[in-house]
Amino acid sequence: MTTPIVIDCDPGHDDAIAILLALASPEVELRGITTVAGNQTLDKTTRNALKVLELADRTDIPVVAGADAPLRRPLRTAANVHGESGLDGPDLPEPTTKTVDGDVVDLLADWLEPGVVLVPTGPLTNVARLLERHPQATERIVWMGGAIAEGNVTPAAEFNAYVDPEAARAVFESGIDVTMIGLDITHKALFDSSHAERLRGAGKAGKAVAELADFFLEFHRRRYRFDGAPIHDAMAVAHVIDPTLVTTLECNISIETESQFCDGRTVVDRWLVTDLPRNAHAGIDVDADRFLELLVDRIGSLA
Ligand code: RIB
Ligand code: CA
Repeated sequence: MTTPIVIDCDPGHDDAIAILLALASPEVELRGITTVAGNQTLDKTTRNALKVLELADRTDIPVVAGADAPLRRPLRTAANVHGESGLDGPDLPEPTTKTVDGDVVDLLADWLEPGVVLVPTGPLTNVARLLERHPQATERIVWMGGAIAEGNVTPAAEFNAYVDPEAARAVFESGIDVTMIGLDITHKALFDSSHAERLRGAGKAGKAVAELADFFLEFHRRRYRFDGAPIHDAMAVAHVIDPTLVTTLECNISIETESQFCDGRTVVDRWLVTDLPRNAHAGIDVDADRFLELLVDRIGSLA
């Protein structure tokens, strides 16, 4: 069975690899891409989404630019992680294609027919705006973001949640079926130099992913002393492709928006100690080896 998906993203190395995984996997059909400011400014994340589709010879897939800033807070980007371009490493040509004109909320509402899964892999600004105008716009969201017990921007918060906590709060309070693929499990699956070498000699997409990984690995070696890089966003797409890879727990996830130290925290009731509504599915474990093999196998199959 093929599941239609829409990816809302802020490319970003792992967003780019998530898009390529979707394109390489018959279990999902990528219907469209919306972009949001996050890892870099909107102009750069949008340009990068267009570059990735051209790399994969899939310029048939529409790209719409969305929010250039969070709902209420100033934008915080991550040039220290993804570089000035947002996709430093490979020398990808400037895109020759353009974005689709139109309002991102209107187009998302149009694309998200029954059965289409929304896969956000950046801050949730576009998704919050969509649900504000169309509360039932989608039946299912699988988001890369948040964490149970980790933080990568502050000790308490993951980047996508931290950039726009108000948007994340709106999404988790919307009543929509939301799955959170957070740092606790993405950090368990490290794409290392052996995976990159397997792809370097594959097609042009594989070579580009190896070069993206080279850059991404270096950051993670420096910051975390990891001998590999978590391809965070690809795990959200992989969860739609093969739901047996990630183990989830239905529990309450609340978003902190008014804290001196914990703004942007996804407060996950991992041990069900409250009576709060079990409003989401939190990723609590992953079969890392099977996820990484799926990733290398599928990316390696691209031209
Ligand atoms: O914290 C990791 C997440 O923030 C990933 O989606 C990465 O691309 C950045 O958007
Ligand atoms: Ca991202």
